[in-house]
Amino acid sequence: MTKLAIMGAMEEEIEPLLAYFDKVNVVEYANNKYYEVNYNGLDIVIAYSKIGKVFASLTASTMIEKFGCDTLLFSGVAGGINPKLKIGDLIIADKLCQHDLDITAFGHPHGYVPGGKVFVETSKELRDVAIKVAKENDLKVIEGIIATGDQFVHSTQRKEFIENTFNADALEMEGASVAVVCDALNVPFFILRAISDTADMDAGFDFDEFLKSSAKNSADYLIKILKEL
Ligand code: ADE
Repeated sequence: MTKLAIMGAMEEEIEPLLAYFDKVNVVEYANNKYYEVNYNGLDIVIAYSKIGKVFASLTASTMIEKFGCDTLLFSGVAGGINPKLKIGDLIIADKLCQHDLDITAFGHPHGYVPGGKVFVETSKELRDVAIKVAKENDLKVIEGIIATGDQFVHSTQRKEFIENTFNADALEMEGASVAVVCDALNVPFFILRAISDTADMDAGFDFDEFLKSSAKNSADYLIKILKEL
């Protein structure tokens, strides 16, 4: 690894990461800010993309193609589907899919378009480091499927569709698009999330209440992982 990208979607998701570094160089590019830091001799670029798949793809591509990052870690929050995941709990994606990608009218499965694949896998090597760090720090982390879509899910009906169709454990709005970019450009990556809500009727309320604390849980764990890379 020569340069590491660390991404979030919202300012709240990268704030606790930036707070960890005392010397930060800000580069403005493509309507966004990229924060350059050095940690233990490793060059790191940190950015939040803004919410959704399009902004996340733009930021991931920029970090790789313009800034020369060759590994990408994502930290943020997600809505929980798996009942084992409570608010604040951590999940690392082993694979991701796009739950709102739908050309089923032409006989294709949900989440699939020709030339693509329903699930994109994350780097096993990075996941293994993360799991080792979790064990060493007595942190409970689930490895599972994360489903991504350009929707804030706040209904049992939509949540159940995503669970039944993709066997997903959690859902959010960026991970699978970052996965597609990294997969295409051969950049090892992982997607880490802490649960902010359970994507049901109370999701909007819970999200506002727990965004900051869950984003910090994810960021704190990512910093611990960083020390082992
Ligand atoms: N990220 C966190 N909670 C979410 C939800 N309920 N839907 C989509 N993205 C989320």
